[in-house]
Amino acid sequence: MKTIGLITAVALLLAGCDPLSVSPGETDSNETTDRIGYGGRLFDMWYDEVGIDFVPDNPETPLADGRGGPNGDGTLNDAAGLPLLNNGHSYRFKNLFGWDMRGDAGIYGHEYQAKEFVLPDGPLSTENADITRAEWIQRITSGAGSLPAYNDVLSPAQIEALVDYMLAVRDGSLPHPDALYTLSVDSPKGFVLMPGGDPALGHAFYEAQCAECHGDDASKIMFDNGEQTLGMHARYYGYAIAMITLAGEPGSNMGPQLDPDLSVEEQTTTLLNLLAALCDRSRYPRGNATDPEVPDNDPRCGAYLR
Ligand code: HEC
Repeated sequence: MKTIGLITAVALLLAGCDPLSVSPGETDSNETTDRIGYGGRLFDMWYDEVGIDFVPDNPETPLADGRGGPNGDGTLNDAAGLPLLNNGHSYRFKNLFGWDMRGDAGIYGHEYQAKEFVLPDGPLSTENADITRAEWIQRITSGAGSLPAYNDVLSPAQIEALVDYMLAVRDGSLPHPDALYTLSVDSPKGFVLMPGGDPALGHAFYEAQCAECHGDDASKIMFDNGEQTLGMHARYYGYAIAMITLAGEPGSNMGPQLDPDLSVEEQTTTLLNLLAALCDRSRYPRGNATDPEVPDNDPRCGAYLR
């Protein structure tokens, strides 16, 4: 994955389309989408995306035993310059803030997936509504509380792209989590997809946009060492699939998948249509995956489950 990230980065530079080379004033929608998508992939897994030699400290062992970073052992430092051990977040923003960026009040919080590593709050938390772009850049650059300092591993331009992605979600210029799913303590993984998606349009979108790589029935690329197909992944973790479709998959040849000219409402509808479609277990089956299929009446897909 790391090599792929590096190759992607080099290829992008050679092709003259480094996602960070967009200068202010250029408002071409493709370039904006590229840069925001890049920020989204950094949010997901920055070390795969930038192709840096960083292996997070293994959270199962007491000593710091990873590779790379300021201490050479797969840890990052806190605001005071002291190493922060990996307690399972692996220094990924999607883990520290949760996919919905609400920290402990959100999908990874104590009421839902109860991930012990999630931070108390994030960019979408109501108490942070007034935190400015400059303040977020400062926090991520230098660390704050249990949020590590990223200036040792990410450039200022990378940190800005990440923050602009998060604030685009917060401020409504990218699909908002609330428009895609609701949180539910009664649902496995803590979410239920929002109604209103059109599976027929979603199938057509899938065929046009995803089938080439993921196969007609979404089982060509298996995830997590063969545990899941893309269809299952969407039925298990629809909230993540929406954001990965939007931003692309870190360190792979899969970039942002939505047409850059769509309005935010159209982006949201397209994602909901896609998620609705992927809830069809016979059209996008389990195949040879090793994880079990979601059962009948599983609440995550709501009425979309087929
Ligand atoms: C150019 C080829 C390509 C296209 C087009 C593409 N993907 Fe991907 N996708 C990949 C590759 C390669 C991976 C990484 C696989 C891996 O990690 O082993 C991936 C990974 C993913 C993942 C991440 C799964 C995980 O590990 O969490 C999701 C979700 C996904 N794709 C959904 C989609 C959807 C939905 C579409 C269409 C809207 C799409 N992809 C279009 C190639 C593509």
